[in-house]
Amino acid sequence: MIKNIFDSEILDYCIAKGVREPAAIQKLREYSSSLDNGRMLITPIQGAFLSLLIKLTNVKNILEIGTFTGYSAAWMGNAIPSNGKLITLDISHEHINHAIQCWTNLNIKQQIEAKLGDAIELMNQFIANKQIFDLVFIDANKAQYIEYYELSLQLLNSGGIIIIDNVLMYGQVLDKNPQKKYLKVLQTLNDIIIADNRVEVCMLPVGDGLTIVRKN
Ligand SMILES: C[S@@+](CC[C@H](N)C(=O)[O-])C[C@H]1O[C@@H](n2cnc3c(N)ncnc32)[C@H](O)[C@@H]1O
Repeated sequence: MIKNIFDSEILDYCIAKGVREPAAIQKLREYSSSLDNGRMLITPIQGAFLSLLIKLTNVKNILEIGTFTGYSAAWMGNAIPSNGKLITLDISHEHINHAIQCWTNLNIKQQIEAKLGDAIELMNQFIANKQIFDLVFIDANKAQYIEYYELSLQLLNSGGIIIIDNVLMYGQVLDKNPQKKYLKVLQTLNDIIIADNRVEVCMLPVGDGLTIVRKN
């Protein structure tokens, strides 16, 4: 019996055998998934991948674009060393309080700073302040992904990492005549990155598609 690796049974097996999700992070996922827009979360496999990548590359300072209820921030905050820091940006404060409670349970609250505001404005402020990060995780407004990518490159030294979620947009990136702006932007960004000699790249079909970029 040969199965498509995107078969949900196979993915469930990967989660069961390949992901150790801390109980407090699992609770946050279950709560977040029950919300109307609960589909916005990264998957547990993506969370475990981010966590391992952070440890493998000794990442200390992370910028996250798009907090939502703090699920991906919890995975990443849990992975950074005690002298590391994660700044996460979101335009909506609605779910932040719940996220802070979860981060408290994991004992990582003091390492995470949630900033309220428009990501592009905040990123420009960081650039003006000459702030540098080891890793930027992009997961906010899809129509602004090209701006996020360009600004992220300015916030990294050589060797810095950008991770971009939803680069497959549930398969819609294959659409040859896209009508939605966010879809055109995602397709254009994917074209830009594969031709961009400022970076090395690998696009993974994990979750809704994850592009990993290393700044040269
Ligand atoms: C896909 S969700 C983030 C999910 C989160 N990274 C996770 O996996 O747990 C996207 C978030 O981006 C936020 N967002 C949308 N537009 C934004 C903007 N212009 N600036 C900052 N955040 C924005 C939304 O409020 C939403 O919470």
